[in-house]
Amino acid sequence: MNLSRTTNPKIISVANQKGGVGKTTTTINLGAALARAGRRVLLIDLDPQGNASTGLGIESENRELTTYDLLTGEVLPSEAALKTTVDDLLIIPATTDLSSADINLMANEKRSYMLHDALHQPDIDSLDLDYILIDCPPSLNILTVNAMIASDSVVVPLQSEFFALEGLSQLMLTIREIRQSANSKLRIEGVVLTMYDKRNNLCQQVEADARDNLGELVFATVIPRNVRLSEAPSFAMPVIDYDPTSKGSHAYIALAKELISREQIPQTRRAS
Ligand SMILES: Nc1ncnc2c1ncn2[C@@H]1O[C@H](COP(=O)(O)OP(=O)(O)O)[C@@H](O)[C@H]1O
Ligand SMILES: [Mg+2]
Repeated sequence: MNLSRTTNPKIISVANQKGGVGKTTTTINLGAALARAGRRVLLIDLDPQGNASTGLGIESENRELTTYDLLTGEVLPSEAALKTTVDDLLIIPATTDLSSADINLMANEKRSYMLHDALHQPDIDSLDLDYILIDCPPSLNILTVNAMIASDSVVVPLQSEFFALEGLSQLMLTIREIRQSANSKLRIEGVVLTMYDKRNNLCQQVEADARDNLGELVFATVIPRNVRLSEAPSFAMPVIDYDPTSKGSHAYIALAKELISREQIPQTRRAS
């Protein structure tokens, strides 16, 4: 264990209420690339579909302690965190329990803070983490609200297609509301363009619009459409292990580097 680490892990939600935009792909592969860059990372699967868990090879029968147990306070993070095939990449898996009505039935004032409270307890120190990445469900429901209240920042995957920017204003509004009510330190880490095809005019247009409207909030790194990224989960591997030389692998390694280097930028310049 690295006893010299004194700061808290940085907690990042990977969120967009649209499904199929690359949230889970980004959580797994950014997490793996950060781990490969020498950081210690915990992924939290906050989607009842459990795609991040499956994609990292955690079979349903091995999901005894899950994000649901973490949220309800039944288990400690260190008890629920499982190793993955990648060194220094851990995951707390999800099952469909997470969509259970229990969460919605919890007392109103507490239910938005369940994940915050779980991740801000002394037990977290024992995991010796640099980053916690939360794979959000495709909605702005109570689970996503929990993620944002627990987080320092949000990474927003934006699929390079028509209408991509339309859903973004709703998401930005939610982030602003949470900043004004429950979590004043929440900021937008960055918007990452996913499934980008540079030969496609529409992709270029979406990129130009995003950079015009959002400026430096958009990561310089763009994730290309790459079949290796879609194949890797069925081999229970992140792309950096499934096909290290693929474009998808290079892209997520570059994104991890950019994320790490952005830590040096003063926050005031990045306020949205
Ligand atoms: N850059 C990419 N290139 C090719 N396929 C991708 C890429 N990113 C995601 N996919 C595929 O698109 C689908 C949706 O991605 P996923 O990460 O599951 O989105 P979300 O978590 O937002 O629903 C998946 O089948 C995934 O494998
Ligand atoms: Mg997903």
